[in-house]
Amino acid sequence: MSEIVRIFDTTLRDGEQSPGVNLSAHEKVLIAEQLVRLGVDIIEAGFPISSPGDLEAVRQVANTVKGVVVAALARANKADIDAAWEAVKGAEQPMIHTFISTSDLHIHYKLRKTRDEVLEAAEQAVRYAKQFTEEVEFSAEDASRTDPDYLCKVYEVAINAGATVINVPDTVGYAEPNEFSALIRTLYERVPNIHKAVVSVHCHDDLGLATANTLAAIREGVGQVEVTINGIGERAGNTSLEEVVMALATKPAAFNNRKTRINTRELVPTSKLVSQLTGMVVQPNKAIVGANAFAHEAGIHQDGVLKNPLTYEIMTPESVGWQNSKIVLGKHSGRHGFASRLSEMGIQLSPEELDIAYNQFKRLTDERKHITDDDLVNLIKSVRASR
Ligand code: KIV
Ligand code: ZN
Repeated sequence: MSEIVRIFDTTLRDGEQSPGVNLSAHEKVLIAEQLVRLGVDIIEAGFPISSPGDLEAVRQVANTVKGVVVAALARANKADIDAAWEAVKGAEQPMIHTFISTSDLHIHYKLRKTRDEVLEAAEQAVRYAKQFTEEVEFSAEDASRTDPDYLCKVYEVAINAGATVINVPDTVGYAEPNEFSALIRTLYERVPNIHKAVVSVHCHDDLGLATANTLAAIREGVGQVEVTINGIGERAGNTSLEEVVMALATKPAAFNNRKTRINTRELVPTSKLVSQLTGMVVQPNKAIVGANAFAHEAGIHQDGVLKNPLTYEIMTPESVGWQNSKIVLGKHSGRHGFASRLSEMGIQLSPEELDIAYNQFKRLTDERKHITDDDLVNLIKSVRASR
């Protein structure tokens, strides 16, 4: 098992498939440059056959960013693979990512094919892509709902045809960690040539289990995980990059000391850039990058954090790119938190002034949910004026 878990970022492809998101070529390049600063290993820049604009955007990303693999998505047919190659051929390290559905549900209703035809298409697609570039990833769409015997056969054929990565998508977010672990174990045990390829996982969050399933697969030894910034993506989204990276960084022993190459201090700046350019607001209580992820409102918590941040913080806000921990003042705040915020604002009060100001502050919290710095300044002005 390799110590490093490769981060395959698909913010610009699956992330862009979030309803209402449409990134211009310039915006994709800006995000790709930030992903390089963040330290991802692979950037999936788009799905070039989907529109001439996306082909051009992928081309611009491929021609701009350095020191990273740039991948483009293609269904298992020549036209898609030609478009993908056209878009990524200028990259330092180009990759073609080709996929076809393997569950009976998809084969029968969506593709209207047979299992044998899908097997043949997978093999042909990988062989065709391999003529252009060494790095070819093959995904069995809806893998987690595919008959395991057939899935093993498909991956065996794809690896024999030259796939360097075989990706296991939980396309509809239906797996749970125990069964996803078992699926990965089955593949390692039953696909004879599996060690010739990197095994990758790609989870969706329909049951809110994408991060848990991805971490379960990391424990089983997969070499790559596919993720997006802020967990954006189709429907309920994809596995969130920041959650997986910080789980490994915070609890190394739980994951066999496996690591990523991510510079964690770039997580929050990347999250903000993606949110700003996609227009997808990050929920305030989102782990790691949400506005409240390090905000302490309750007096008991504020008191603890001020005495020792470890009391209520399992990682430092600075380690993920926040400037500082935020004390949010509201009706649950205590005297310690109140005085500390004033001192952060450069306001020093005598003990008597602090008593009066704290009482007025408490009255104000009955009227307002959040007390801003401006409110505090006005409150202190009135305390001083009344003496
Ligand atoms: O969710 C999925 O199955 C995908 C594939 C194209 C990898 O996004
Ligand atoms: Zn997906």
